[in-house]
Amino acid sequence: MLTSHNQLPPQLKKFRRFVYISPVITILALAQLLWTYRTDKTFPFWTQYNQATSEPQIPVQLTVPQQHGPGQMAPLGQKVPLVAVNATKTLLVAAYQEHRTTKKEVRVIAVVLRSEIVAYRCFLRCQEQLHISEAVMNVHIDHFDFVYGTADIMCPVPSGCEAPSHIAVTSAAANSEDKLDNKFLEVKNQKVQSDSFPYNFTVCFSTMFDFTNVLQLVQSLEMLQLLGVNRVIIYKTSSSPETQSVLDYYTHKGLVEVIPWSFSRFLNVSHGFSPSHGPGDLHYFGQIPALNDCIYRYMYQSRYVALHDMDELILPQSVNSWLELLPLLEKKYGADRCYMFENNEFPITYTLPPPASQSPPPQGCCPSWRNVSGVNILAHLFHVPIITKTHYSNFKIIVNPRAVFAPSVHGLLSSKNGCSWVDRTIARMYHTRVLRNTKMRPDQLIYDGRLLSYSTHLIPNVNTVFRESGLLPEDGIH
Ligand SMILES: *[C@@H]1O[C@H](CO)[C@@H](O)[C@H](O)[C@H]1NC(C)=O
Ligand SMILES: *[C@@H]1O[C@H](CO)[C@@H](O)[C@H](O)[C@H]1NC(C)=O
Ligand SMILES: *[C@@H]1O[C@H](CO)[C@@H](O)[C@H](O)[C@H]1NC(C)=O
Ligand SMILES: *[C@@H]1O[C@H](CO)[C@@H](O)[C@H](O)[C@H]1NC(C)=O
Repeated sequence: MLTSHNQLPPQLKKFRRFVYISPVITILALAQLLWTYRTDKTFPFWTQYNQATSEPQIPVQLTVPQQHGPGQMAPLGQKVPLVAVNATKTLLVAAYQEHRTTKKEVRVIAVVLRSEIVAYRCFLRCQEQLHISEAVMNVHIDHFDFVYGTADIMCPVPSGCEAPSHIAVTSAAANSEDKLDNKFLEVKNQKVQSDSFPYNFTVCFSTMFDFTNVLQLVQSLEMLQLLGVNRVIIYKTSSSPETQSVLDYYTHKGLVEVIPWSFSRFLNVSHGFSPSHGPGDLHYFGQIPALNDCIYRYMYQSRYVALHDMDELILPQSVNSWLELLPLLEKKYGADRCYMFENNEFPITYTLPPPASQSPPPQGCCPSWRNVSGVNILAHLFHVPIITKTHYSNFKIIVNPRAVFAPSVHGLLSSKNGCSWVDRTIARMYHTRVLRNTKMRPDQLIYDGRLLSYSTHLIPNVNTVFRESGLLPEDGIH
């Protein structure tokens, strides 16, 4: 399963309450945020190392040797090369120009060993010149006690280097400026875009591993398109061959972008959300750096970005698509912020007939789907009741990515305008998964057939995918 953080450990619950629930702490934190942000344009939620950046600009006139040409920058076919910083445990994920802070800088998203103290030096390539500056590194607080954590290595852009095309990061102690071959990352987000984006809605699925749930994946991708989604980014570690052919099909169609996601060459990733739940060095296959990368990768390409898992769907209740939903949310809660949709768990553990009063779901629907591995979301239309204790606590978000500095699993660590709960009568999240609370009896579950109002479009679309991708034989689809 893609899904991860549903059995929240107490410390995560506490963390989430800290960020969202306790109004007093939130107000204090916001006050601190504003104060600190005004003072030094950095974010107090993050641990800071290496603040000695009083002289960030050291332009040097180096002729860049030919082997530093763009073709050498990253191994071909690898979108995220994970560059290791020599003489440190640091891994670089990707580099993005940051346009929203007063100081011009490049943000290098990284994974660092939290106990290691490193002074980083940045080598910015501007046309044929290399410029050097000293970085400031911030470790995000959502490391969940793993020894590695996500970090931003912020590299000031020196004057005379308006648009660095590539960047390399070294340890200042290593003195390795003549050995930077293959260590350069492309600096993305060169241009600010504030309207006419190629995509209205982009969804980030972080992290796909050991994945075989083909039927639910196809249903989700077709549902997302019915909702108005144009792009789905999948950070993929491992999957079945059938899953790969579905991903190839959607990549060819232009819907899906697969980002290979494997830290295991460098460290032991955890399969869990805490060291006790899954031993390892880095939280849940590197989910946090994936979410951060996705926000920045689509910041100027997509009007909105949704961060949720493959088995989760945000369904509007009074309108049918996200295109119609978002104007409602902006009017009610304000624009340029993040919207939190309440989680509703639809256990796959039981397949129950609908209440007599309801129009029947396509029970006899699509017998050939039984030849595709995975969950049929149309067969699970009962959810776990919402109780006061957990009401408005578990959620995923849709956000304007340009208002975000650092996303986390649930919500945002740092943003311009914060988040609002979306009233569940306006929209809510449908999470079709294995039942978590095994004490729940089938007769306690509550029917919600909202998904069925999409089924007249969903069923033929899913069949078309099975036909066109060759997953089911042409004459065997019914
Ligand atoms: C990496 O650092 C080691 C010393 O820590 C040095 O011997 C080696 O040459 C460096 N390699 C590169 C590619 O910079
Ligand atoms: C984005 O939404 C607008 C309506 O707000 C629509 O006209 C346009 O076609 C959509 N773009 C894509 C790529 O779907
Ligand atoms: C992963 O853990 C195993 C067992 O603890 C260890 O032998 C191995 O060196 C670790 N691998 C990495 C890349 O750290
Ligand atoms: C599943 O596939 C088998 C072999 O191709 C076929 O005989 C059978 O009819 C299929 N079952 C359904 C329910 O389509």
